[in-house]
Amino acid sequence: MRESAVKMDNKVNKTFFIRTFGCQMNVADAGEYAQHLQNFGLLPTEDLNDAKVVLLNTCTVRQHAEDRALSFLGQLKKLKMKNEKLKIIVAGCVAQRLGEDLKRRFPHIDLVIGAKDIDLFPQILTERLKDFQEPEGSTPYRSTNLSTYQPMNLSTDVTAFVTIMRGCENFCSYCIVPYVRGKEKSRPVEEIISEINCLIKQGVKEVTLLGQNVNSYKLQITNYKLQIGFADLLTEVNKIERLERIRFVTSHPKDLSEKIIFAIRDLDKVCEHLHLPVQAGSNRILEKMNRKYTREGYLSLVAKIKDTIPEIAITTDIIVGFPGETEEDFQDTLDLVREVEFDSAYTFKYSPRPGTAGAKLDDDVPLEVKEERLKILNQTCNEISQKKNQKLIGTKQEVLIEKNVKQAGKLEGRTRTNKIVFIQSRKNLVGKKVEVKIIEAYPHSLFGKIKQKGEKNENTT
Ligand code: SAH
Ligand code: SF4
Ligand code: F3S
Repeated sequence: MRESAVKMDNKVNKTFFIRTFGCQMNVADAGEYAQHLQNFGLLPTEDLNDAKVVLLNTCTVRQHAEDRALSFLGQLKKLKMKNEKLKIIVAGCVAQRLGEDLKRRFPHIDLVIGAKDIDLFPQILTERLKDFQEPEGSTPYRSTNLSTYQPMNLSTDVTAFVTIMRGCENFCSYCIVPYVRGKEKSRPVEEIISEINCLIKQGVKEVTLLGQNVNSYKLQITNYKLQIGFADLLTEVNKIERLERIRFVTSHPKDLSEKIIFAIRDLDKVCEHLHLPVQAGSNRILEKMNRKYTREGYLSLVAKIKDTIPEIAITTDIIVGFPGETEEDFQDTLDLVREVEFDSAYTFKYSPRPGTAGAKLDDDVPLEVKEERLKILNQTCNEISQKKNQKLIGTKQEVLIEKNVKQAGKLEGRTRTNKIVFIQSRKNLVGKKVEVKIIEAYPHSLFGKIKQKGEKNENTT
């Protein structure tokens, strides 16, 4: 929809391009920045060379993520040399971490706006960039504070991210997020619901509720001495008509209550998938990481989840090579991985982040050892993922079709358990839920064929 708007209106010559690095929160924020820029009369473009404004939405969770953003920033210098009127804005978590220092290092930047200041974006733009004046006759734009923001679906028309809270106060010792995102702030239920209703009108069928730790979603209704938690929010979102599926990330194990587990089991739209980062399998390392749970605590939580919701898929994040991690600690992680049998895992080499408690510890696991551990861990996780997916062969799964993979004549969607399924078909079923028989399994995807009522199998491999 946005693309065609650009093509149709040739008179509009102010366009913006957004490049986003980092987590889903940053992807959701990109929608917010885009909405603000549109309120200033700009239109989105997907061609960097065509843009009058480039906004770089950065991530600093690991040094590698920061380096990628800075290298892209380096590339923009050439573009600025060709067109000195080009405005370059750096937003997100690197902008928050480095602030105005970034401008000293990269003088071609016009504006730095930290992740914490996203609500002030329109104000800051007007104050600091003289090109950004309110178009005549438009309603003056106020700071949104997450409330007046009208969503712009940046992912696909079928699924969308919805921020339910910002910030994090857990201070895991390796993590920079609490420093660059600030204190936890939950968004009112009515705002979340009205945003989802708005997305549904645009064709969205599935929402992923976003927060660094959604389980600590909390709203105090002072007049009634009432506290609304994440399970209550899920209950409210589940009532939204025409919404078909609800997902959420991320769940911190220490805050995943029985009430939330029951909500996943009982609410029909809430999908059977939990992303439950464990980070490490050794109690010594978990304590140094300040994760506030033990290996035994995590395992018994997983047992309770599987008991309550047997079909659930559990995915995780794991860090190897945290300061002081011995071979034995690493074996504890591998053992835990084998015991839980995660459906999939995001795995990372520890990267010290300036200002965190972890950065004060000696980063003493040599790079080669981190790499070797990562390789072994990935092999183990992939074997488990393959084994678990293999078990799905012959089963029927509800798949929500998200896109056409055009060249290949395939459809792509996901099961309720968040597994990617490809289907050989040239039919346009995007946005439809179909029943799919799984016929092939890989570690990170499945292949299936559609079975529709009154229809023979419409495809074969
Ligand atoms: N709030 C989420 C996401 C945090 S960032 C959560 O708590 O899970 C996503 C993942 O990046 C983390 O789960 C962790 O596994 C990884 N990560 C964070 N900081 C890191 C660091 N300094 N080095 C390596 N991996 C890190
Ligand atoms: Fe980082 Fe821990 Fe907060 Fe997640 S819960 S964002 S890992 S500090
Ligand atoms: Fe990166 Fe910031 Fe997300 S550091 S992981 S973009 S919260």
